[in-house]
Amino acid sequence: MGLSFRQMERSLGVGVGALALGTAGLLLLLKIIQRARGRQNLQDKVVVVTGASSGLGKECAHVFHAAGARLILCGRNQKRLQEVVQELEAVTDGKIRTYIPCIVVFDLSDPDTVSRAAIEILKCHGHVDVLINNAGISYRGSILETRVSVQRDVMETNYFGPVAFTQAVLPSMVERGSGHIVAISSVQGKIAIPYRSAYAASKHAMQAYFDCLRAEVESFGLQVSVISPGYIRTNLSVNAITGDGSKYGVMDRTTAMGWDPEKVAQAVLKAVCYRQKDVLLAGPLPALAVYLRTLWPAAFFSVMASRAKKEQRVKEQ
Ligand SMILES: NC(=O)c1ccc[n+]([C@@H]2O[C@H](COP(=O)([O-])OP(=O)(O)OC[C@H]3O[C@@H](n4cnc5c(N)ncnc54)[C@H](OP(=O)(O)O)[C@@H]3O)[C@@H](O)[C@H]2O)c1
Repeated sequence: MGLSFRQMERSLGVGVGALALGTAGLLLLLKIIQRARGRQNLQDKVVVVTGASSGLGKECAHVFHAAGARLILCGRNQKRLQEVVQELEAVTDGKIRTYIPCIVVFDLSDPDTVSRAAIEILKCHGHVDVLINNAGISYRGSILETRVSVQRDVMETNYFGPVAFTQAVLPSMVERGSGHIVAISSVQGKIAIPYRSAYAASKHAMQAYFDCLRAEVESFGLQVSVISPGYIRTNLSVNAITGDGSKYGVMDRTTAMGWDPEKVAQAVLKAVCYRQKDVLLAGPLPALAVYLRTLWPAAFFSVMASRAKKEQRVKEQ
């Protein structure tokens, strides 16, 4: 007996469903294989982390060390960097071969020491695979009450320092035809928040410079990732400087309630492993603000003006 029209329709539907499911499964499998093949393995890779003595840099040191990288840790404070090395030495994982990190001490805001440090760093293992420009300082203050010298100081550490350091290491990467440069920027590299002028300006400059760099070095086989986190639970606000150059010294509520630095460090590791170009690590509100700035600037400016007025009122109380 032949099949009724309804039966034929039903079996055809089941067939199409199974085919669609099978295709989706196959595509997913292909994507997983592609991701696994495209994943950069960090075992034995030479990874430089600036600002490794605390906060996000220290957490990056932990996650890249655990992935088997040969670390070169940088900062201004030798003692604190040595403490990080001791912490890392105490962590052992039988499965991954780990290395005792090297330390190179230098001040990013001093152009002379930056080029000397780059030479010292290149001598450690002969080359650099991954350069993480993480070190930075923050700033709190009104533009009216801020010395121009303070605007310059923040630029030196957050912009000219990483630029000089990157350019000192870059030729060796170009020569080898491989290397990955990471810039730890901020959401404030994409949107400017009142009373953060020096910091936001330095991070906007950083974003622009590393976007240009990415385009210029792609043909040499180099990668550039810009990471833009929102608030992270570190001492950044405590270490921030104010309009007269003195230390702010306050743990802001927003910073205290920020993302776990370990989670951000894992995202940095992922960005390197999967060669991600631009990563925004923030909740829905800051992410919305970034889009608003581009799609509806007038609305964004009015939100920022009310925020400035509110902060002004709080200051006057
Ligand atoms: N925390 C946040 O909410 C947040 C959000 C977005 C982006 N970020 C970015 O994340 C990065 C790390 O900051 P963090 O939050 O971890 O703050 P942090 O705990 O204050 O760490 C800053 C690091 O930068 C180093 N550093 C500062 N000035 C330096 C200089 N002139 N030369 C060399 N090293 C210098 C410090 O080392 P020494 O003092 O030992 O020299 C320290 O290790 C910064 O670029 C920051 O802008 C932070």
